[in-house]
This record gives sequence, structure tokens and C-alpha cells, in this order.
Amino acid sequence: MCGIIGITQNNSEDLMEKLYQSLKRLEYRGYDSVGFAVLSQESIKISKNKGKVDEVAKQTDFSLMKGTTGIGHSRWATHGAPTKENAHPHTDCQNKIAVIHNGIISNFLQLRKELTQKGHIFTSETDTEVVPHLLEDLLQQGKSMKEALFELATILGGAYALVVIHTSEPNKIYCMKKENPLILGVTKDESYAASDIPAFLPYTREAITLRDDELATLEPGKYMIYNVKTGKTVSRKPHRITWTPDAAQKGGYPHFMLKEIHESGQVLRTQLASEISNVEQIAQAILDADNIITMAAGTAFYASLTTQYLFQQTFGKIVIPTIASEYETVLPIINKNTVVVAVSQSGETIDTIKAVKEAKQKGAKIIAIVNVVGSTITRIADHIVYIQAGPEIGVAATKTYLAQVFAIWRIYHQALLKTNQTTLAQQLQKAIQNIPDEIERIVRNDEAKARDIAKKIQNAQSAFYLGRGINLTTALEGALKLKEISYIHAEAYPAGESKHGPIALIHKNYPIIFIAPNDNTREKIIGNIMEMKARGAYTIGIIEKHDQELKQILHQYFEINPQYSKQLQNIPYQIPLHLIAYYTATTKGHDPDYPRNLAKSVTVE
Ligand code: F6R
Repeated sequence: MCGIIGITQNNSEDLMEKLYQSLKRLEYRGYDSVGFAVLSQESIKISKNKGKVDEVAKQTDFSLMKGTTGIGHSRWATHGAPTKENAHPHTDCQNKIAVIHNGIISNFLQLRKELTQKGHIFTSETDTEVVPHLLEDLLQQGKSMKEALFELATILGGAYALVVIHTSEPNKIYCMKKENPLILGVTKDESYAASDIPAFLPYTREAITLRDDELATLEPGKYMIYNVKTGKTVSRKPHRITWTPDAAQKGGYPHFMLKEIHESGQVLRTQLASEISNVEQIAQAILDADNIITMAAGTAFYASLTTQYLFQQTFGKIVIPTIASEYETVLPIINKNTVVVAVSQSGETIDTIKAVKEAKQKGAKIIAIVNVVGSTITRIADHIVYIQAGPEIGVAATKTYLAQVFAIWRIYHQALLKTNQTTLAQQLQKAIQNIPDEIERIVRNDEAKARDIAKKIQNAQSAFYLGRGINLTTALEGALKLKEISYIHAEAYPAGESKHGPIALIHKNYPIIFIAPNDNTREKIIGNIMEMKARGAYTIGIIEKHDQELKQILHQYFEINPQYSKQLQNIPYQIPLHLIAYYTATTKGHDPDYPRNLAKSVTVE
């Protein structure tokens, strides 16, 4: 969703270049228009338009936008089409205040009506534009910017990360947040505010996470934080980001997505080397709970399904996977004996935040499986497992999906040890240790084949992904990835369910991807393959190595080493599907890193 950067520094030479580069690094969040504002000689210079960061930068004369304080924004349209007028920054009537915003001001219609009656002129259809006009009004009443912003916090409904500059304070940036992320970055001479860490990662790794109902003022090398409800200052020291600036670069790969698929093995290796004590505690909390509810969205939801397959089947625990935006359905059964497992790469997905907050209020213990350190969900959680995947820039999750599933496996492994299920625990331990190498082997071996399959399926209108048991998660994640970045309609079904409707769509060369490991699902899956083949489908299988029978039946196959059979499969079996999605998108000429209409971090409900 919207990308935010604010910079205040002593040097005026490179400000615009840094704003531009920072927005480039936020492109992965998804956007459709771009804008910059720089405080310069008691006026605000603005350049904005619909289009890509590079396009808007090309239309901007950087030499006319000299200053030491500026803001940049990439907008993902919600209120009003992607147009120049609706692009941020938005200003007040006198052009003294410029505002950028991520989130939705829920009461903007009423506020706009009142402000219009007072004579304010609006130039966009956005909800955001009420903010500069409201501030203008409050300043005219004699309030300082800080007082005006405190009052604004009592007026605005909805969610926001706001960054504001004013001509009367050419070295100051004001930031305020509620439910949408804002991270501050500091050095000796510079201060930054951003929607996400990669924006300022090359300039500083000292970061401060702003919390809800906080206002921060930034000056070059200085920051102050206030609680907007009490007006009191808040003391918070920066924490050091361990991600390196290189981790947010393509590093020679044509796309972030391919780089991230290649990083998957290393990510799991890093996770394996990390602290286990919190994982042990979480395993115990799950074993002690009456019921377990998972809450997540999209890919993270598919990863969370692993919890059900592992804990329900082995320990007889009731596990209810819940799509975060549908959390109300499970609220009545949440109590203090419930454990909620919240899975989220960003830790900022608003649907998941809302669900987790409600569950916490009802007494549930919250376990967060998250990538971004210090993100909102981690602050609500009782226990946290960081998946240690580093920055994921490609909009479509790949390495973080695997890292989320892996984190759940590790918890499961600890639960096996705690319940003395040693044989299974030993098998799992071996597979867990080997899995980073196996992933790297699969990526190396299967890229060429994925490219060939992409050529074959690129013109398909639709595709199915069929799996059984834990590999339904593999199928669901595979189908989501294909549709997100190649725009081929793809659906996943439990393979058994395919006969109850979907089979009606099958015609000659209809692509179907089967997840067909050598376990108790194999015979039934073979039956499903034969049914589909008989109707002309083009069949692709992810199979266990040397499964001669399946090799003969399928049109194409990817082979996975045997030790991942049974409940350990949904990491290695996923890799070929991520590769197929990537190569289908690129074969069709689409940019897999920035799929249309999608945003990396979904911060509106
Ligand atoms: C799909 C994808 C999304 C996210 C979802 C949740 O490739 O990336 O479906 O998984 O928006 O995001 P997080 O994990 O940040 O909560």
C-alpha cells in the first residue's frame, strides 16, 4: 500500500535524490501515483502525478526542488482514481502545509462538508485532503503545530500514518500514527520517517518504531516522541536493524522474486541457527491450550493451515484456521484457554491486527509468527517467533511463506519432544537439518524445467492445483502465486473435491498441477490424475524421486527427495510451484515484483 518517506537533514544537495531513491525502494508496496514536496525558501515545491516513480521523477526538475526537508509518497488508490490531483502530497488553501498519508480517514465526508462550509477549497477526491485543511483551521485558531496535531488526533476517525511539513518550520517533520506503520530512522545529522525500513536502509540502520497514538517531531539528527492523548514525551531508544542494505537490492538477479526464491534455503538455515527457547515455550503453550485458532491473510493464511495438519492430527488439538478478516466467526469460542497463532510477514496487515486485538481482549494468548521486527503484531503478542527472512521486496511472498511454515514445523518438533514422541521427532529433526540444502538443490535443478512448463501454460485461461492432506496448503499457495503474477486464473482444491464441480471445466491441454508425494494420499491422487488425463488435461506433478509409475503417467514432473514424505512435505514440494509462477509471469512479459493492483502490506480493511 502507500509508501511514505520523510527526510530532514543539513545537506540540501542530495535531498531530492534521496527521496526519489527511497520511493524506488518502496515500490514493492504497490502504488499507482507518486509525489514529492520540498520545503524551500518559505514555500513548498511540489511535483506529483500518476505513474511510476521513475516517470514522475523524470517530469520533476530536481534542481528546482532544493531544500533540507522533504517528503515523498507513492499512493495506492482508495478514495478517488489514480490521477495527478489525487496523488499526495496534499496541501491547505495557502500552500503552507503538505501532508502525505497511508490509511483511511473514515469520517472524511463529514469533515470535508464542514471544512467546505467554512470556505476551504478542495482539489482532490481523497480522504487525506481533509488533514491539511483541518490543520490550517487549527493553526488559524492560534494553536502551535504540535497542539494542532494533538487535536487532530481527537478529530480523525479511521487509520493513519501521517507525515506533515509546514513552511514556518523548514527543518522539521511531524509524524503521527494510528494503526498504520511508521518507522523513524536516525543518524547524527539526519532524520527519516518511512512506512517501511528499506526506504532508509542505505542511510541508517538505527530505527525507532512509532506506536499508535504517538506524534514524533524530527529535525536533522534529532527526534522527540509524544503520546497524543497525554501530551507527555515518550522516551524510546533506536534499535539496530540487522538487515543489510544489500539484502534489499536485486544482487544480480533480474527480479527480487527470483532472488528471494533463491534465498529460501539460506533463510531456513538462519532460522535453524536462531534461539530455540521461545519456540519451546510456544510449543508448551499450544499443548496446554484447549483450542488453537490461527489468524492470517493470503499466503500467510495458507502457511498457517500447517498448524491444523500438524497439531490436530498428531495431538488431537482442535485447530481452527481463520482468515483474519473473518475473525468475528470465531470470537464466541475464544477465551483464556485459547491460543491464537497469528502469522504475518509484515506484522502490519490490518485485518490480522484487528483480529488479534479482539482475540487478546477476550483473553487469548497470542503467538506471533512474524518477519518484521518491532511491527504492530509483535507488540500485541505474548510470544514471538521471528522467521528471520530478511526484507522481502517482491510483492508475492515466496521465501517468507517457507519461513512461516518452517517456524510452525519447529514448534511442532518441540511439541513432539515434550510429549515423548521420539521416533517422529528424530525423523523430523533429520529432515529439518537437511531441508535448506534440499531447497537449494531443487531451485538449482528445477529452474530450467519450470521455464519450459511456463512456455507450455502461458496461454492457458485457467489452471488447477490439486493436493491432499497437508499438501492442500502447497496447492493453495501455488495457485495464489500463479494468479497473482501471471494473471492466469488458478484455483486449488483438495484433489478429492475436484470431481464435485471443477472437473466440468477440463478440456484439452487444461493445465493441472498435482502435488503427489509417496504417502497415504498417493493412490487416490493417481486416480485423480487419471480422471483428468482422460478428459485431455495437461498434467504436471510434484512427485517423490524415482516414482516410476507417476513419471509414466504425468506429462511433466518435478522430483523431490524421499525423506520429506508424510507430514514434512509442504516446504520442498512448494519450490517448483514458486518457480512455475515466476517463469510464467516473466514468459508472458509481466513484472513479477510489482503485480497489478496488489500491495505488499495491506494496511486498509
Ligand atoms: C501473496 C501475499 C499476500 C500476503 C498477505 C498477508 O503472495 O504476499 O497474500 O501473504 O497480504 O501479508 P502479511 O504476511 O504481511 O500479513
